[in-house]
Amino acid sequence: MIIAVDGPTASGKGTIAKALAAHFRLPHLDTGLLYRAVGRQCQLDGGDPNDPVAALAACSFPESLLADPELRSEEAGGLASQVSVHPTVRRALYERQRSFALQPGGAVLDGRDIGTVIAPEADIKLFVTASVEARALRRFLEMQAHGRAVSLKDVATDLAARDDRDLSRKEAPLAVAEDAIVLDTSELDRDEAIAAAIAVAGKRR
Ligand code: DC
Repeated sequence: MIIAVDGPTASGKGTIAKALAAHFRLPHLDTGLLYRAVGRQCQLDGGDPNDPVAALAACSFPESLLADPELRSEEAGGLASQVSVHPTVRRALYERQRSFALQPGGAVLDGRDIGTVIAPEADIKLFVTASVEARALRRFLEMQAHGRAVSLKDVATDLAARDDRDLSRKEAPLAVAEDAIVLDTSELDRDEAIAAAIAVAGKRR
């Protein structure tokens, strides 16, 4: 069984994908982490993430980079969003994601284009979303808890820029697959969102 979980930044899709993987005992791939690794490698190489040649070269990042906690930072998210617009980068990361999806027994993958490009045949497709305000507030509280001095306004502006880039890129933009179930988590806390996703996925299964 393949479960595709797509959605914008800070929608809760990562948390939901992890919970679905645990519930259905399936392996999970956070595909955003791959783009984050490319962005970070590009930075380490001194390259410009907007340059397709530099970004493509960064696709051969070492596996050890995936364990770098720095990949979870806002900066790495921004770099990932930049390198992910290049079709060559998307193609370079395609096979890895595709074979993860096709492993025997199935898998859960979360990202932006899982239900539309990576695994259009997925058995369950969830599109997890939430209002910009709700997502910005979540991200802001998360950053505050980590002792980061940021303003809610800056977080919201940054998030809107990421959304805009993810939605407007030519190749594989963030989009709701035709057969996806949309789950709006604006009014839900973590446990409620997980419970809703498990209920929806169980029904679809
Ligand atoms: O889900 P995330 O915040 O870790 O993703 C970081 C960036 O990576 C996001 O802004 C766009 C890109 N991305 C993508 O283009 N396709 C995916 N399947 C996953 C992430």
